[in-house]
Amino acid sequence: MEKVLTIIILLWQLVGGQNSSISIIMPNFMVPVPAGMDRSLRNEGIVIGNCKVVINDLCPDPDVNFFLYTKTHPKVPEGVRVSSDPNVSNLTKTSFNPKHPVKIIIHGYNSDMYLNVLVEIKDQYLKSKDFNVFAVDWAPLAQSPCYIAALWNIKHVGTCTSQLVERIRDLGTEDIHVIGFSLGAHIPSHLANALQPYKLPRITGLDPAGPGFITASRENKLDKEDAKFVDVLHTNSFMQGLVEELGHVDFYLNGGVIQPGCWAEPRFFACNHHRAPLYFAESINTQLGFWAWPCPSYFQYLLGNCPPKEPQILMGEHINSSFFGVHLVITESVAPFAVGKFTGPLIEILKKSERHRKEILKKYKRTVEEFIDEDTIIEALYNETDLRGHISNRYVDEIVPFVTSV
Ligand SMILES: *[C@@H]1O[C@H](CO)[C@@H](O)[C@H](O)[C@H]1NC(C)=O
Ligand SMILES: *[C@@H]1O[C@H](CO)[C@@H](O)[C@H](O)[C@H]1NC(C)=O
Ligand SMILES: *[C@@H]1O[C@H](CO)[C@@H](O)[C@H](O)[C@H]1NC(C)=O
Ligand SMILES: *[C@@H]1O[C@H](CO)[C@@H](O)[C@H](O)[C@H]1NC(C)=O
Ligand SMILES: *[C@@H]1O[C@H](CO)[C@@H](O)[C@H](O)[C@H]1NC(C)=O
Repeated sequence: MEKVLTIIILLWQLVGGQNSSISIIMPNFMVPVPAGMDRSLRNEGIVIGNCKVVINDLCPDPDVNFFLYTKTHPKVPEGVRVSSDPNVSNLTKTSFNPKHPVKIIIHGYNSDMYLNVLVEIKDQYLKSKDFNVFAVDWAPLAQSPCYIAALWNIKHVGTCTSQLVERIRDLGTEDIHVIGFSLGAHIPSHLANALQPYKLPRITGLDPAGPGFITASRENKLDKEDAKFVDVLHTNSFMQGLVEELGHVDFYLNGGVIQPGCWAEPRFFACNHHRAPLYFAESINTQLGFWAWPCPSYFQYLLGNCPPKEPQILMGEHINSSFFGVHLVITESVAPFAVGKFTGPLIEILKKSERHRKEILKKYKRTVEEFIDEDTIIEALYNETDLRGHISNRYVDEIVPFVTSV
């Protein structure tokens, strides 16, 4: 309860001055439920301005919806009702085919399932072969300017999504891949907690959200315990994304902070962040492929210690799950982004990689260099955990103002 109060105070501050009327919906446990009314269908929570905080973890929740796209429903999805009771669920009445692999796509903050870069992932899957592509829509719980509320709500969204996974598994499908973007990339962590002891085969995190997660514990953010295989793409670290390694494999695209071509875009921050889903979408059907090379850690890259080398591995949908660790990838500045496998002289790739690295150090001097003097870097080289801890706390104030969308 103390936590809830803290959140209410934070929300009050966030929406303060915008609206004088503040409505508080009493949580379920304080109000007797009228006879005949389905508890689970009541829209519970505390509402302040636009911000809704879920207090009762009751699923199904009308604010968390599931939709299915298949080859027979490629554009207009079918609504799917799931519940803890298999008899109440209507998955078998949809075009769901348990023989086809399942993809579950989860959006982030100030967004919904129709975000164009997420729709692109769905379209690329359906173009390639028969998939059951589910979209999780939790937009009412992810509204702007309620980042703190959305942070609070992701656990609930993960719990409700666990009912979807259970009903899918009832029908015999085991090939389940959850793909989360931004704040939605941490939802699979709560989903995984709710599904224990079952372990999801694969989770892909697309530029997992940074604000609020830097000091979060493992069970509250995406990490490699959440699935048998976790792969992560970083495109806007230090700002909207997390720089830290979260998966079995972490890819840092073009240095992982600023994406080529984004300086020219009016929505600079969104452009960098949205590239993660765009690169992933392209990886599904690309002929060239996004090939990556290994690097001991992201900080080794910043220090200039990671020239291109073998073995090259494929990033994205067709990743080989027997590899692990940090990998670096270079892309084009406009679609199609993939540059293919590098052969022969690596000098061009090296030059690009170095240019991105220097750009990061120059632009983010304040966040990268100023905070860490040279001695600390050298010391930290021998203690990565320490380095991460050292810079983390200081980022919190820096990053929050950047969070304007997703
Ligand atoms: C404030 O209240 C007005 C009228 O009730 C409503 O139209 C508006 O959307 C609200 N704005 C916010 C930010 O909640
Ligand atoms: C399943 O239930 C959802 C939510 O109640 C509904 O929108 C959808 O139309 C149903 N689907 C089918 C195929 O009956
Ligand atoms: C679901 O329906 C089947 C067949 O009608 C019945 O045997 C079973 O008990 C029901 N399960 C639940 C949880 O109600
Ligand atoms: C993955 O890589 C390993 C090691 O190089 C190789 O033995 C294996 O065949 C690869 N798996 C696939 C599916 O390509
Ligand atoms: C690394 O730093 C952490 C935190 O300061 C410390 O607990 C740990 O002992 C250090 N490890 C090594 C190998 O120095």
